[in-house]
Amino acid sequence: MTDERLKIYMAPMQGYTDVPFRNSFEKRFGGVEAYYTPFVRWEREGVRRKDMRDLNPEANRVTRLVPQIMAGSADEADAVLGQIGGWGYKEFDLNMGCAFPVVAKKGKGCGILPYPERVEDLLRIAERHPELSFSVKMRLGYDDPSECMALLPVLNQARLSGVVVHARTGRQQYKGDCDREAFARFARECVHPVVYNGGVSTLDELDALRGEMPYLDGVMIGRGLLASPWLAAEYRCGTGWDKERRMSALRGLHGDLLDHYARTLEGGEKQLLTRMKTFWEYLCPDADRKARKKILKARNVPEYTQAVFRLLQEM
Ligand SMILES: Cc1cc2nc3c(=O)[nH]c(=O)nc-3n(C[C@H](O)[C@H](O)[C@H](O)COP(=O)(O)O)c2cc1C
Repeated sequence: MTDERLKIYMAPMQGYTDVPFRNSFEKRFGGVEAYYTPFVRWEREGVRRKDMRDLNPEANRVTRLVPQIMAGSADEADAVLGQIGGWGYKEFDLNMGCAFPVVAKKGKGCGILPYPERVEDLLRIAERHPELSFSVKMRLGYDDPSECMALLPVLNQARLSGVVVHARTGRQQYKGDCDREAFARFARECVHPVVYNGGVSTLDELDALRGEMPYLDGVMIGRGLLASPWLAAEYRCGTGWDKERRMSALRGLHGDLLDHYARTLEGGEKQLLTRMKTFWEYLCPDADRKARKKILKARNVPEYTQAVFRLLQEM
């Protein structure tokens, strides 16, 4: 039965899907085929220490982790691999989708999409490392959704294990409608396994995608999994979890994160509260508004934990 279901991949989300989140998510919820790390890149003197810690296999306990590299050329990607290559990861993802203006202006992330020759150069990393496999995560284009069609010859010739497409342009950032038609045109002509990404947050949407696009390899989900962490597990087992099961797993995830950040953040209670409150930007969007406000306004940890307890109880 599970063979008929789409694979679900956890999208990389800088500031959210870090090592404690991924480890606890897999333990408490699961249902995800692979976890993509937020992008790592070569900064002035190498990969940031924080990013190295996030990739360190000793800290990572998920079954399948795909480190994501952001680079504008094969040489730059190689520099990153030089630093993390010794850790034994066999598959990597290349970021061609990040829409932060500072990144895109430098021709990285989705800023590379209008330039097929630069994409071709970046993808040579796969030829240089035949022992590794590479996927790309891209958007339909930077300015225009037709850009992905112009990239097809380059992508189809490259040695790639898959292509994840966030069905928006860079200009759209994270808002506005996903262009499913443009995505489908691309997916039908792409020779690699194609994964859909963008705006999926319910079981019904997953079923509809499966029906609409039977050729999909899978679906990558970001904000939908932050909002409803049980989504992938429920989809995998083919039935919804009851409220008690959902809330008990969520309490577990929340507790793991609170423990982890209380132990590791050095900026005291204020920093801990700020860190924890960021999760509530996405978590349980249907929760009572007043209860959510209480969480966001909490001034100390006891106030915060009490507000979280109440919200989860009322769900
Ligand atoms: C806060 C935030 C951080 C993100 N960080 C990354 C990243 O590091 N690498 C990447 O490829 N995409 C990143 N994305 C994009 C997501 O992976 C995903 O493509 C996008 O959110 C659309 O999917 P969704 O609608 O399922 O969330 C980020 C998105 C958000 C909102």
